[in-house]
Amino acid sequence: MTEITELQFKKDDLATRRIATREAPPIGDGEILAKVDRFAFTANNVTYGVVGERIGYWKFFPVVDAQARQAAAAPADPTAVGEAAPPAPEPAAPQTNQEWGIIPVWGFADVVQSNHPDVAVGERLYGYWPTASHVVMSPDKVKPTRLVDGAAHRAELPPVYNSYARVAGEAGYDPAMDDERMTLYPLYATSYCLYDFCKDNNWFGAKQVIIPSASSKTAIGTAYAFGDDPQAPRVIGVTSARNESAVLALKLYDDVVRYEEMEARIDAGIPTLIIDMSGSGPVVGRLHRHLGDNMRYTSNVGITHYDAGGMGDGFIKDRSAMFFAPGHIQKRASDWGPGVFERKAFEFWRQAAFRSRNWLTIKTGAGANAVEAAVEEVYKGETPANVGWVVGF
Ligand SMILES: NC(=O)c1ccc[n+]([C@@H]2O[C@H](COP(=O)([O-])OP(=O)(O)OC[C@H]3O[C@@H](n4cnc5c(N)ncnc54)[C@H](OP(=O)(O)O)[C@@H]3O)[C@@H](O)[C@H]2O)c1
Repeated sequence: MTEITELQFKKDDLATRRIATREAPPIGDGEILAKVDRFAFTANNVTYGVVGERIGYWKFFPVVDAQARQAAAAPADPTAVGEAAPPAPEPAAPQTNQEWGIIPVWGFADVVQSNHPDVAVGERLYGYWPTASHVVMSPDKVKPTRLVDGAAHRAELPPVYNSYARVAGEAGYDPAMDDERMTLYPLYATSYCLYDFCKDNNWFGAKQVIIPSASSKTAIGTAYAFGDDPQAPRVIGVTSARNESAVLALKLYDDVVRYEEMEARIDAGIPTLIIDMSGSGPVVGRLHRHLGDNMRYTSNVGITHYDAGGMGDGFIKDRSAMFFAPGHIQKRASDWGPGVFERKAFEFWRQAAFRSRNWLTIKTGAGANAVEAAVEEVYKGETPANVGWVVGF
C-alpha cells in the first residue's frame, strides 16, 4: 500500500503547519495515482495560501477529514449475509477539513498507478500539484501533449490550473530545464501576461512604470518583457534595503529605489503605471499620494508583503484593479484561439529562463523536513532574491 505524505497549512495562520501521512486510497475506474517528484516554492505559493479562501486555492487539494476517510474506507459487515442482511452502507463521501488546507505548487509528477486506458504508468506530467507526495487524478480530454484533471471538485476552478503537460509528447522537451520550468514558468508566464495586458492598453498613457517588490521573480520577468520592447515605458524597480544589491546586480531596471526613498527619488510629474507585486497597503498608498493624478493605473498583481496587506491611506481605488493571469490567458484564448498565447508565453519563458541563468541559483531538498524548511524560509521572506527552491517528499 502506498503512503501519502502531505504538508498541511492552517488556513487562517500559514505559520502553523503539520506533516500528515495516510494510506493512498484505491484508485477507481479512469483514475490515476501520480507521485509528485519535485516542485518549486516561492512567494507566489505563500500568496495562494493568503488568498486561498477569497480566490479558491484551497479547493484544488482539500484535506480529507481522517474520520470521514475511515468511514468511507470501512468495508460492509462481512457477517451480514442472506435475505435478512441489511444493504451494505454507501461509503460516506469524504469530508473536506475546513481548518486545514494544502497549498498548490508547480512541478513534475510521475504516474505510478493507472486505471485510465490512455495514461500509462511511468508518464511524466508538468503542472499544478499539492505540497504532498502523491495525488489521485481523473484524466480527461487526454491529447498527445496535454490532459486535464477532470475531478469533480476542480470543475469550477480556472482551466489553466487543471491542465497538465504530458512532457514525453512535447516537441523539444528538455529535462535539463525542469528546475527552471517549475520555478520560473508560472511566474514569467504571468510577466508576459502583464506585458501583453499593459501594451494592449497602450501602457495606460504612462511614461514610467513602477514595480514594487522588484526582487520577486514575477517582477524580474516583467522587467525583461518591458525592457525588450523599445516602445515600452522605462521601468523603476522598488525594493527593500535587504534586496537592493541583488536587484542592482541584475542591471535590468532603469532605476532601483528603496521603499524608504520612494518620494525623494520618484518623479511625480510623470504619468505612471504601477505594477504592484508587494500588496503592501503602506507602500501603494504612499505611491498613490505621491503621484496623485499622474498615477494612471495600478495593477494589483501580488501580495509578497502579506503581513502589510489591505488598502493604504490615499489608495486610489477607481484606477486600480486586481490582475489575475489565468483570466488574461482565458481572454487571449478567446481572442486568438486556444494555445496561441500559451505558445508565445512558453517561448518568452524559455528565453527569459536562459537569461536568468546568470543570477538565479536553484537550491534543492528532498524529504518532508526539507520541504518544511524551504517553506518556512520562503514564508518568512528569508530566501535571498537570487535563490529559488525546488523540493520534493
Ligand atoms: N495575480 C497573478 O495572477 C499572479 C501570478 C503570479 C504571481 N503573482 C504574485 O507575484 C508575487 C511575486 O511572486 P514570486 O513567486 O515572483 O516571488 P519571489 O520571487 O518569491 O519574491 C520574493 C520577494 O518578495 C518579497 N518578500 C517575500 N516574502 C516577504 C516577506 N515575508 N516580507 C516582506 N517581503 C517579502 C521580497 O521582495 P522585496 O524585498 O523586493 O519587496 C522578496 O525578495 C506573489 O505575491 C505572487 O502571488 C500573481
